[in-house]
Amino acid sequence: MTPPVKRIGILCGGGDCPGLNAVIRAVVHHAVRNYGMSVVGVEGSFQGLMHDPPNVRELNLGAVSGILARGGTILGTTNRGNPFSFPVKGPDGAVTTTDRSAEIAIRARQLGLQGLLVLGGEGTLALGWRLMQERQVPIIGVPKTIDLDLSATSATFGFVSALEVATDAVDRLHSTAESHDRVLVLEVMGRDAGHIALCSGLAGGADVILLPEIPFDLDAVTRKIEQRRALGRRFSIIVVAEGAREHGAGQRVLAGTEPGKDKVRLGGMGNWVAGQLQERTGVEARAVVLGHLQRGGSPAPLDRVLASALGVHAVDMAARGLWGRMAALRYPDIVDVPLPEALGTYHVVDVHGALCRTARSLGICLGEPE
Ligand code: F6P
Repeated sequence: MTPPVKRIGILCGGGDCPGLNAVIRAVVHHAVRNYGMSVVGVEGSFQGLMHDPPNVRELNLGAVSGILARGGTILGTTNRGNPFSFPVKGPDGAVTTTDRSAEIAIRARQLGLQGLLVLGGEGTLALGWRLMQERQVPIIGVPKTIDLDLSATSATFGFVSALEVATDAVDRLHSTAESHDRVLVLEVMGRDAGHIALCSGLAGGADVILLPEIPFDLDAVTRKIEQRRALGRRFSIIVVAEGAREHGAGQRVLAGTEPGKDKVRLGGMGNWVAGQLQERTGVEARAVVLGHLQRGGSPAPLDRVLASALGVHAVDMAARGLWGRMAALRYPDIVDVPLPEALGTYHVVDVHGALCRTARSLGICLGEPE
């Protein structure tokens, strides 16, 4: 018989998002109060277990007091430093990579951890699954991302909070765009999935929404602005996802590449679109990049509730030995699904779905060529 689970670790990986602290709090409360488990917080993602001594701290009820409404994560996180190809700088300054995943397994064992709860998006959860397969570290996933791009769960905490920030920005841009007869472009996060752009554009009444899922036609966007002006609407509001691109040979706009980071840094599409439109229409066009404001601050009530429910379910999973799975919302239930299934499909905007149909029906231009 497998021994009862009495000691678990918890860590966050990837970009932060509102609601992580609510998960940590729920995990500690449920594990300590109802299972008599001890919970070890790992700081700075998997890298906390690559340090000697490890960067960890015991999490008791006192340690998680007052964090429910706090943004970010008390454990810290990073979206750099894949343990399987960890960057190392040689004496000549050249960067090579090395596999340090075995260290994580060794430290977890030394700390007496029977498994790890991993709070992350698709990249972090894939790393967790690989650690379980190759290094026998038992993992349970808790889905987090403002981007809403995980397919096995009806929602991820963080999205609603980010959407509030983005919608507030669209609302605020309206009045100043109108006063100055300008085209104002709001660039929001969304690398491959445009959920934040689509929903904030719908909620804020944007005139144009440009998504990674629909390569856009600048002629169509220009026409939309000119049609509005012909009707006396001399300003326009455009929401563009950072990962959007022009159709044909159009490329995504990069803000830079960073050593040790798995993904390129996007940013600048808003400015590019504004420049192009100003040139084509002669109307003054400016861009605002919302950036990390979308990830900061206190989680929305719905995100706090979802985060708490996922945290509780993850502890139940650990107690039942359901490793290699991810807690998920299948509204109205919290369920769990195998990690490979959860990672198998990416959840992008359905371009034929209800929300895109709603946008088109309301006369919002999605940049589609006619
Ligand atoms: O969490 C995912 C995300 O929000 C993406 O939409 C965005 O490209 C990325 O994070 C930016 O992360 P950072 O600037 O922290 O590297």
